[in-house]
Amino acid sequence: MTTVDTATTDAPTLRVAPSILSADFGSLADAVGRVTPGTDWLHLDVMDGHFVPNLTIGPPVVASLRSHSELFFDTHLMITDPAKYLEPFRDAGSDGCTVHVEVGETAALIDRMRQLGLRVGLAANPDTPFEALEPFLDQVDLVLCMTVFPGFGGQSFIADVLPKIARVRAAADAAGLDLDVEVDGGIDGRTVVDVTRAGANVFVAGSAVFNREDPLAAVQGILAAAADERAGGTP
Ligand code: DX5
Ligand code: ZN
Repeated sequence: MTTVDTATTDAPTLRVAPSILSADFGSLADAVGRVTPGTDWLHLDVMDGHFVPNLTIGPPVVASLRSHSELFFDTHLMITDPAKYLEPFRDAGSDGCTVHVEVGETAALIDRMRQLGLRVGLAANPDTPFEALEPFLDQVDLVLCMTVFPGFGGQSFIADVLPKIARVRAAADAAGLDLDVEVDGGIDGRTVVDVTRAGANVFVAGSAVFNREDPLAAVQGILAAAADERAGGTP
């Protein structure tokens, strides 16, 4: 397992969360096994054909993967009615769930996730402002700044999101919060440098991992680029 452990500093741990959306769904367990030595998180994209125009997986697939993997299951709920499905995902083996702030009822969803013992994440689409996230920053463990509009893998990174990432990190630091700032969409060995500089520390990557010949090397390359940026930055 490779992360950049910063336990001796205030800086949050850098980690890559490979997204199985770009993996071969016919052999998911094999795909997960290939990246497992490189990380401790796995990103699971749940889509309902309503909040986003695509359908993916539900609790049965999470439960099946659970028996093949000990990674932290970081479950991204791109669904209109997450309240209905939080418990089934927890029971299936999700460790953390992330709901979108755009679906509303955010305070109640956060409470429910806590009751269920889930790690709590809150996501925002690229055009959702920082102000929508701000009231909840001290109540969540993770903020996910989408760097593409959710729904599909393989889209181009939207750099306009960088100032929002920086504001989330600055607000968390100012309040002394131990907050993971996750980014998702178009992340690769190049864009990870920009998001690291802005303050992100969890990097979801789908196509830049599973569309490569060597997914493990891809995970390690993304993490190394982030660590290099944090260590000294680009000239
Ligand atoms: C998109 C999903 C992402 C997706 C990212 O809506 O939330 O997790 O897998 O894919 P890439 O890394 O290919 O942009
Ligand atoms: Zn995602």
